[in-house]
Amino acid sequence: MLPNKDDILRELNQELASVSSLQDLEKLKARYLGKTGIVKELSKAIKDIPPEERKSYGSLVNEIKDAVEEIFKEKFSYFKSLEESKKLSKDFIDPTLPITSQLGSLHPISLTLERILSILKSMGFLEQEGPELEKEEYNFDMLNIPKYHPARDMQDTFYVNKEGYVLRTHTSPIQIRTMLSNKPPIYITAPGKVYRKDDDPTHSPMFFQVEGLAVDKHISLRHLKYVLDTFLNIFFGKSLKTRYRSSYFPFTEPSFEVDIECVMCGGAGCRVCKQSGWLEVMGCGMVHPNVLKNCDIDPSLYTGFAFGMGVERLAMLYYGISNIKLFYENDIRFLAQFEE
Ligand code: DAH
Repeated sequence: MLPNKDDILRELNQELASVSSLQDLEKLKARYLGKTGIVKELSKAIKDIPPEERKSYGSLVNEIKDAVEEIFKEKFSYFKSLEESKKLSKDFIDPTLPITSQLGSLHPISLTLERILSILKSMGFLEQEGPELEKEEYNFDMLNIPKYHPARDMQDTFYVNKEGYVLRTHTSPIQIRTMLSNKPPIYITAPGKVYRKDDDPTHSPMFFQVEGLAVDKHISLRHLKYVLDTFLNIFFGKSLKTRYRSSYFPFTEPSFEVDIECVMCGGAGCRVCKQSGWLEVMGCGMVHPNVLKNCDIDPSLYTGFAFGMGVERLAMLYYGISNIKLFYENDIRFLAQFEE
Protein backbone atom coordinates (compact mmCIF):
# COMPACT_ATOMS: atom_id res chain seq x y z
CA MET A 1 0.00 0.00 0.00
CA LEU A 2 1.28 3.46 -0.85
CA PRO A 3 1.80 5.90 2.05
CA ASN A 4 -0.50 8.92 2.17
CA LYS A 5 1.66 12.01 1.70
CA ASP A 6 -1.06 14.48 2.65
CA ASP A 7 -1.83 12.68 5.90
CA ILE A 8 1.84 12.60 6.90
CA LEU A 9 2.34 16.32 6.22
CA ARG A 10 -0.88 17.29 7.94
CA GLU A 11 0.13 15.36 11.03
CA LEU A 12 3.58 16.95 10.96
CA ASN A 13 2.08 20.44 10.75
CA GLN A 14 -0.21 19.71 13.67
CA GLU A 15 2.70 18.57 15.78
CA LEU A 16 4.78 21.59 14.74
CA ALA A 17 2.06 23.95 15.96
CA SER A 18 2.76 22.94 19.56
CA VAL A 19 6.55 23.16 19.32
CA SER A 20 7.82 26.21 21.22
CA SER A 21 11.58 25.75 21.47
CA LEU A 22 14.55 24.83 19.30
CA GLN A 23 15.13 21.79 21.50
CA ASP A 24 11.60 20.44 20.91
CA LEU A 25 12.05 21.09 17.22
CA GLU A 26 15.26 19.02 17.17
CA LYS A 27 13.40 16.15 18.86
CA LEU A 28 10.55 16.28 16.36
CA LYS A 29 12.99 16.39 13.47
CA ALA A 30 14.69 13.22 14.78
CA ARG A 31 11.29 11.53 14.91
CA TYR A 32 10.71 12.27 11.22
CA LEU A 33 14.14 12.32 9.63
CA GLY A 34 16.37 10.45 12.14
CA LYS A 35 17.85 6.97 11.63
CA THR A 36 14.72 5.28 13.01
CA GLY A 37 12.40 8.12 11.97
CA ILE A 38 9.11 7.86 10.10
CA VAL A 39 10.63 8.71 6.70
CA LYS A 40 13.48 6.20 7.15
CA GLU A 41 10.98 3.50 8.07
CA LEU A 42 9.04 4.19 4.87
CA SER A 43 12.26 3.80 2.85
CA LYS A 44 13.12 0.53 4.57
CA ALA A 45 9.62 -0.80 3.89
CA ILE A 46 10.34 -0.78 0.14
CA LYS A 47 11.58 -4.37 0.42
CA ASP A 48 8.05 -5.51 1.26
CA ILE A 49 6.54 -3.79 -1.77
CA PRO A 50 5.85 -5.91 -4.87
CA PRO A 51 8.56 -5.25 -7.50
CA GLU A 52 6.19 -3.67 -10.02
CA GLU A 53 5.09 -1.01 -7.47
CA ARG A 54 8.56 -0.24 -6.11
CA LYS A 55 9.32 2.54 -8.56
CA SER A 56 6.26 4.64 -7.79
CA TYR A 57 6.61 3.81 -4.06
CA GLY A 58 10.23 4.98 -4.08
CA SER A 59 9.52 8.27 -5.82
CA LEU A 60 6.61 8.97 -3.49
CA VAL A 61 8.82 8.37 -0.44
CA ASN A 62 11.40 10.74 -1.92
CA GLU A 63 8.74 13.39 -2.41
CA ILE A 64 7.62 13.00 1.19
CA LYS A 65 11.24 13.23 2.38
CA ASP A 66 11.85 16.46 0.40
CA ALA A 67 8.64 18.05 1.65
CA VAL A 68 9.38 17.12 5.29
CA GLU A 69 12.92 18.50 5.01
CA GLU A 70 11.63 21.74 3.52
CA ILE A 71 9.10 22.20 6.35
CA PHE A 72 11.81 21.69 9.00
CA LYS A 73 14.18 24.07 7.24
CA GLU A 74 11.63 26.84 7.35
CA LYS A 75 10.74 26.19 10.96
CA PHE A 76 14.42 26.23 12.01
CA SER A 77 15.10 29.58 10.36
CA TYR A 78 11.95 30.98 12.00
CA PHE A 79 13.23 29.93 15.45
CA LYS A 80 16.73 31.30 14.77
CA SER A 81 15.44 34.74 13.82
CA LEU A 82 13.18 34.68 16.87
CA GLU A 83 16.19 34.06 19.11
CA GLU A 84 18.21 36.79 17.44
CA SER A 85 15.54 39.41 17.93
CA LYS A 86 15.23 38.33 21.58
CA LYS A 87 19.00 38.91 21.99
CA LEU A 88 18.78 42.32 20.26
CA SER A 89 15.95 43.49 22.46
CA LYS A 90 18.09 42.67 25.52
CA ASP A 91 20.93 44.89 24.14
CA PHE A 92 18.60 47.77 23.52
CA ILE A 93 19.97 51.21 24.43
CA ASP A 94 17.56 53.97 25.22
CA PRO A 95 19.04 57.15 23.69
CA THR A 96 16.39 59.30 25.35
CA LEU A 97 17.72 58.63 28.87
CA PRO A 98 19.19 61.76 30.53
CA ILE A 99 23.01 62.15 30.78
CA THR A 100 23.95 61.72 34.41
CA SER A 101 27.76 61.98 34.32
CA GLN A 102 29.64 65.29 34.38
CA LEU A 103 30.98 66.56 31.05
CA GLY A 104 34.75 66.90 30.71
CA SER A 105 36.61 70.11 29.97
CA LEU A 106 39.87 71.10 28.34
CA HIS A 107 43.04 70.70 30.43
CA PRO A 108 44.50 74.02 31.70
CA ILE A 109 47.68 73.34 29.68
CA SER A 110 45.61 72.84 26.51
CA LEU A 111 43.67 76.02 27.24
CA THR A 112 46.90 77.98 27.78
CA LEU A 113 48.58 76.50 24.71
CA GLU A 114 45.58 77.29 22.53
CA ARG A 115 45.49 80.86 23.80
CA ILE A 116 49.24 81.40 23.21
CA LEU A 117 48.99 80.07 19.65
CA SER A 118 45.86 82.00 18.76
CA ILE A 119 47.33 85.32 19.95
CA LEU A 120 50.48 84.73 17.90
CA LYS A 121 48.44 83.52 14.95
CA SER A 122 46.54 86.80 14.98
CA MET A 123 49.95 88.47 14.52
CA GLY A 124 50.79 86.28 11.52
CA PHE A 125 52.74 83.41 13.12
CA LEU A 126 51.61 80.04 11.77
CA GLU A 127 52.03 76.72 13.56
CA GLN A 128 54.77 74.20 12.67
CA GLU A 129 55.46 70.79 14.18
CA GLY A 130 58.52 68.64 14.75
CA PRO A 131 59.28 65.21 16.27
CA GLU A 132 59.89 64.62 20.00
CA LEU A 133 62.64 62.12 19.16
CA GLU A 134 64.93 64.64 17.48
CA LYS A 135 68.24 64.51 15.64
CA GLU A 136 71.03 65.58 17.98
CA GLU A 137 72.27 67.67 15.05
CA TYR A 138 69.06 69.75 14.93
CA ASN A 139 68.61 69.90 18.71
CA PHE A 140 72.18 71.12 19.26
CA ASP A 141 74.80 71.38 16.48
CA MET A 142 72.87 73.39 13.91
CA LEU A 143 71.61 75.69 16.66
CA ASN A 144 75.22 76.70 17.19
CA ILE A 145 75.72 74.32 20.15
CA PRO A 146 78.64 72.07 19.06
CA LYS A 147 79.61 68.87 20.91
CA TYR A 148 81.60 69.54 24.10
CA HIS A 149 80.32 73.13 24.13
CA PRO A 150 79.53 74.00 27.77
CA ALA A 151 76.11 75.28 26.64
CA ARG A 152 74.97 71.65 26.28
CA ASP A 153 74.99 71.51 30.08
CA MET A 154 72.32 74.22 30.21
CA GLN A 155 69.82 71.53 29.25
CA ASP A 156 70.19 68.17 30.97
CA THR A 157 69.47 65.80 28.13
CA PHE A 158 67.77 62.40 27.93
CA TYR A 159 69.87 60.37 25.52
CA VAL A 160 68.23 57.36 23.86
CA ASN A 161 69.26 54.01 22.42
CA LYS A 162 69.41 55.39 18.93
CA GLU A 163 72.66 56.77 17.68
CA GLY A 164 72.44 60.48 16.83
CA TYR A 165 69.03 61.08 18.43
CA VAL A 166 67.87 62.67 21.70
CA LEU A 167 64.53 63.45 23.31
CA ARG A 168 64.35 67.08 22.24
CA THR A 169 65.29 69.41 25.09
CA HIS A 170 63.52 72.38 23.52
CA THR A 171 61.31 73.24 20.55
CA SER A 172 64.11 75.32 18.96
CA PRO A 173 65.10 72.48 16.54
CA ILE A 174 61.81 73.19 14.74
CA GLN A 175 63.46 76.50 13.71
CA ILE A 176 66.09 74.44 11.89
CA ARG A 177 63.56 72.10 10.28
CA THR A 178 61.53 75.09 9.08
CA MET A 179 64.50 77.03 7.69
CA LEU A 180 65.82 73.94 5.90
CA SER A 181 62.54 73.39 4.08
CA ASN A 182 61.27 76.99 3.64
CA LYS A 183 62.99 80.19 2.68
CA PRO A 184 62.17 83.65 4.14
CA PRO A 185 59.83 85.31 4.82
CA ILE A 186 59.25 82.92 7.75
CA TYR A 187 56.87 83.62 10.63
CA ILE A 188 56.13 80.52 12.71
CA THR A 189 55.19 79.20 16.13
CA ALA A 190 56.34 75.71 17.14
CA PRO A 191 54.50 74.15 20.09
CA GLY A 192 55.30 70.79 21.64
CA LYS A 193 56.49 68.57 24.47
CA VAL A 194 60.13 68.78 25.52
CA TYR A 195 62.19 66.65 27.92
CA ARG A 196 64.88 67.42 30.49
CA LYS A 197 66.32 65.73 33.57
CA ASP A 198 64.71 68.18 35.94
CA ASP A 199 62.20 67.62 38.72
CA ASP A 200 61.05 70.04 41.46
CA PRO A 201 57.89 72.05 42.30
CA THR A 202 58.41 74.34 39.28
CA HIS A 203 60.11 71.88 36.87
CA SER A 204 58.95 68.62 35.33
CA PRO A 205 60.96 66.13 33.19
CA MET A 206 58.35 66.66 30.45
CA PHE A 207 56.81 70.04 29.78
CA PHE A 208 55.44 72.11 26.91
CA GLN A 209 57.18 74.93 25.08
CA VAL A 210 56.21 77.31 22.32
CA GLU A 211 58.99 78.52 20.07
CA GLY A 212 58.61 81.53 17.80
CA LEU A 213 60.67 82.49 14.77
CA ALA A 214 60.59 85.40 12.34
CA VAL A 215 63.09 85.65 9.47
CA ASP A 216 62.72 88.35 6.87
CA LYS A 217 64.49 91.39 5.41
CA HIS A 218 65.19 94.22 7.88
CA ILE A 219 63.99 92.38 11.02
CA SER A 220 65.31 94.21 14.08
CA LEU A 221 65.18 94.12 17.86
CA ARG A 222 62.34 96.65 17.77
CA HIS A 223 60.13 94.07 15.97
CA LEU A 224 61.02 91.48 18.59
CA LYS A 225 60.12 93.80 21.45
CA TYR A 226 56.89 94.92 19.80
CA VAL A 227 55.70 91.34 19.16
CA LEU A 228 56.56 90.08 22.66
CA ASP A 229 55.19 93.11 24.55
CA THR A 230 51.94 92.89 22.57
CA PHE A 231 51.72 89.14 23.14
CA LEU A 232 52.27 89.46 26.91
CA ASN A 233 49.70 92.26 27.30
CA ILE A 234 47.06 90.22 25.48
CA PHE A 235 47.95 86.98 27.26
CA PHE A 236 47.71 88.47 30.77
CA GLY A 237 44.81 90.72 29.81
CA LYS A 238 46.39 93.91 31.05
CA SER A 239 49.05 96.44 30.22
CA LEU A 240 52.23 95.17 31.90
CA LYS A 241 55.70 96.61 32.32
CA THR A 242 58.32 94.42 30.63
CA ARG A 243 62.08 94.26 31.02
CA TYR A 244 64.61 92.76 28.57
CA ARG A 245 67.55 91.45 30.57
CA SER A 246 70.75 90.68 28.73
CA SER A 247 71.37 86.92 28.67
CA TYR A 248 73.08 84.15 26.71
CA PHE A 249 71.71 81.55 24.28
CA PRO A 250 74.06 80.06 21.68
CA PHE A 251 71.47 80.39 18.88
CA THR A 252 70.76 84.12 19.38
CA GLU A 253 72.96 87.18 19.50
CA PRO A 254 72.17 89.39 21.31
CA SER A 255 70.10 87.29 23.72
CA PHE A 256 67.62 88.35 26.39
CA GLU A 257 65.42 87.05 29.11
CA VAL A 258 62.05 88.77 29.25
CA ASP A 259 60.61 89.74 32.64
CA ILE A 260 57.14 91.10 33.34
CA GLU A 261 56.13 93.05 36.42
CA CYS A 262 54.90 90.51 38.98
CA VAL A 263 51.27 89.65 38.20
CA MET A 264 50.71 88.67 41.85
CA CYS A 265 51.87 91.84 43.62
CA GLY A 266 52.00 94.37 40.77
CA GLY A 267 55.73 94.85 41.31
CA ALA A 268 55.68 95.59 45.04
CA GLY A 269 57.51 92.37 45.92
CA CYS A 270 56.03 89.07 47.13
CA ARG A 271 56.79 85.38 47.64
CA VAL A 272 56.12 84.49 43.97
CA CYS A 273 58.58 87.06 42.56
CA LYS A 274 60.98 86.46 45.47
CA GLN A 275 60.55 90.12 46.48
CA SER A 276 62.08 91.32 43.18
CA GLY A 277 58.83 92.64 41.66
CA TRP A 278 59.71 90.87 38.39
CA LEU A 279 58.87 87.48 36.85
CA GLU A 280 60.93 85.83 34.12
CA VAL A 281 58.64 84.60 31.34
CA MET A 282 60.74 83.65 28.32
CA GLY A 283 64.04 83.71 26.42
CA CYS A 284 64.57 85.49 23.12
CA GLY A 285 67.07 87.17 20.84
CA MET A 286 68.18 87.91 17.30
CA VAL A 287 68.87 84.70 15.33
CA HIS A 288 72.62 84.05 15.34
CA PRO A 289 74.16 84.45 11.83
CA ASN A 290 75.69 80.95 12.18
CA VAL A 291 72.22 79.45 12.55
CA LEU A 292 71.02 81.21 9.39
CA LYS A 293 74.15 80.06 7.53
CA ASN A 294 73.65 76.46 8.73
CA CYS A 295 70.27 76.56 7.00
CA ASP A 296 71.55 78.15 3.77
CA ILE A 297 70.04 81.55 4.50
CA ASP A 298 72.31 84.51 3.75
CA PRO A 299 72.72 86.58 6.97
CA SER A 300 73.75 89.64 4.95
CA LEU A 301 70.27 89.64 3.30
CA TYR A 302 68.10 88.34 6.08
CA THR A 303 67.85 88.78 9.84
CA GLY A 304 65.50 87.24 12.32
CA PHE A 305 64.32 87.02 15.89
CA ALA A 306 63.36 84.01 17.95
CA PHE A 307 61.76 83.36 21.32
CA GLY A 308 60.91 80.38 23.48
CA MET A 309 58.47 80.12 26.38
CA GLY A 310 57.35 77.42 28.81
CA VAL A 311 53.61 76.78 28.67
CA GLU A 312 53.37 75.43 32.25
CA ARG A 313 55.22 78.47 33.56
CA LEU A 314 52.80 80.88 31.84
CA ALA A 315 49.79 78.81 33.00
CA MET A 316 51.08 78.83 36.60
CA LEU A 317 51.48 82.61 36.55
CA TYR A 318 48.14 83.20 34.82
CA TYR A 319 46.09 80.95 37.10
CA GLY A 320 48.17 81.48 40.26
CA ILE A 321 49.31 77.85 40.67
CA SER A 322 52.44 77.17 42.74
CA ASN A 323 53.16 73.48 42.03
CA ILE A 324 53.66 72.21 38.46
CA LYS A 325 52.76 68.63 39.53
CA LEU A 326 49.08 69.64 39.82
CA PHE A 327 48.94 69.71 36.01
CA TYR A 328 49.90 66.05 35.69
CA GLU A 329 48.01 64.40 38.58
CA ASN A 330 44.65 64.53 36.77
CA ASP A 331 42.74 65.23 39.97
CA ILE A 332 39.25 66.05 38.74
CA ARG A 333 38.71 68.56 41.62
CA PHE A 334 41.65 70.57 40.24
CA LEU A 335 40.84 70.16 36.54
CA ALA A 336 37.14 71.03 36.87
CA GLN A 337 38.07 74.57 37.92
CA PHE A 338 39.23 75.46 34.41
CA GLU A 339 36.00 74.94 32.48
CA GLU A 340 35.50 77.79 30.07
N1 DAH B 1 65.39 77.07 23.68
C1 DAH B 1 65.50 77.87 24.88
C2 DAH B 1 65.29 76.99 26.08
O1 DAH B 1 64.66 75.98 25.97
C3 DAH B 1 64.49 78.96 24.89
C4 DAH B 1 64.80 80.00 23.88
C5 DAH B 1 65.61 81.08 24.22
C6 DAH B 1 64.33 79.89 22.60
C7 DAH B 1 65.92 82.05 23.30
C8 DAH B 1 64.64 80.86 21.64
C9 DAH B 1 65.45 81.94 22.02
O2 DAH B 1 64.21 80.79 20.40
O3 DAH B 1 65.74 82.87 21.11
O4 DAH B 1 65.72 77.32 27.15
